[in-house]
Amino acid sequence: MREEHNVSSERKKDHIDLAFKSRVDESQLDRRFHYEPMLSAHPDQIDLSIHFLGYNLKAPIWVSSMTGGTEMARTINQNLARACSEFGLGMGLGSCRSLLYDEVSLEDFDVRSIIGDDVPFYGNLGIAQIEQLLAESEQDRIHRLIEQLKLDGLIVHINPLQEAFQPEGDRFERAPIDTLDQLLEEVTVPIIVKEVGQGMGPDSLRELLKRPLAAVDFGASGGTNFALLEVSRSSKDYTRFLRPMVRVGHSADDMVEIVNHLVDQLGGERKCQQVIISGGVKDFLDGYYLTKKCRLQSIYGQASGFLKHAMGDYSTLRDYVRAQIDGLALANAFLKIKH
Ligand SMILES: Cc1cc2nc3c(=O)[nH]c(=O)nc-3n(C[C@H](O)[C@H](O)[C@H](O)COP(=O)(O)O)c2cc1C
Repeated sequence: MREEHNVSSERKKDHIDLAFKSRVDESQLDRRFHYEPMLSAHPDQIDLSIHFLGYNLKAPIWVSSMTGGTEMARTINQNLARACSEFGLGMGLGSCRSLLYDEVSLEDFDVRSIIGDDVPFYGNLGIAQIEQLLAESEQDRIHRLIEQLKLDGLIVHINPLQEAFQPEGDRFERAPIDTLDQLLEEVTVPIIVKEVGQGMGPDSLRELLKRPLAAVDFGASGGTNFALLEVSRSSKDYTRFLRPMVRVGHSADDMVEIVNHLVDQLGGERKCQQVIISGGVKDFLDGYYLTKKCRLQSIYGQASGFLKHAMGDYSTLRDYVRAQIDGLALANAFLKIKH
């Protein structure tokens, strides 16, 4: 009792010390939500689960694709896979291009035994590689990759600006949508299509939603931007002059609105039923807001958000993911989005 009293007076002292420093002025208010404190108990048992990509995820969260290929990538992928297994989340690998022709970096990607069989685990290739493999009738390499890593399916990234900015970048000989159509005929595994940080406009999204894709992953603008990354990496004037292109694109919020509109427009023509809302999603509040606003079955994805916490000790990542999930539960209990 005495101890409780001491803790309580210590806390009160902290409160007084911190109160003057802990002010949120009106301009900082998050106006996307109505806050409703009267209607729920604390969320010990909120069920955040969602049926997605044929699995029951325990929370609507996706680890977005990040490249492998270095010693650090192995640690990152293993940590991320462990978190997905522990918390019941889905994961997309970064580009598996290096595995198409040799197995040197296999261990960086080979995390099925860590992630387990209860959550979706997808590989990743660029549309440029797919175009090339199909042109050379080498689709067997894709099947081999899928078997090697025991993948549930493949994510195809569409990155024309990044390729254009890279001195060693690939050039697309065909429109990505044509390559995608051919891929869909050649493989039977589920396919997800994503951008890499620029998002996509209504015409591209319309075409994608008309295809039998497992999902579209936004890779929207607002977070990591690979066109900008390539400009920063380059010392050439030529690349610097292309810089205005880094400011074009679509935010995740824009893309949710476009998708909602397309749901009505496409009606029965729509064959893709699910989206991963990613690109510039800073935290669970963004994720909560966007998934609630989206009319399609959706989860949210983060790349850089996870990366920051996945490079060292697993416990750092674990704390981050747990806080995201607990935050989502709080949001579900006390926040309603303003429509
Ligand atoms: C270090 C890093 C590596 C990435 N590598 C890939 C990749 O190999 N394939 C891919 O489709 N996207 C890749 N991305 C893009 C992300 O999947 C994601 O679309 C983009 O970073 C936007 O999400 P964010 O704002 O949460 O970072 C990478 C992102 C980062 C930060």
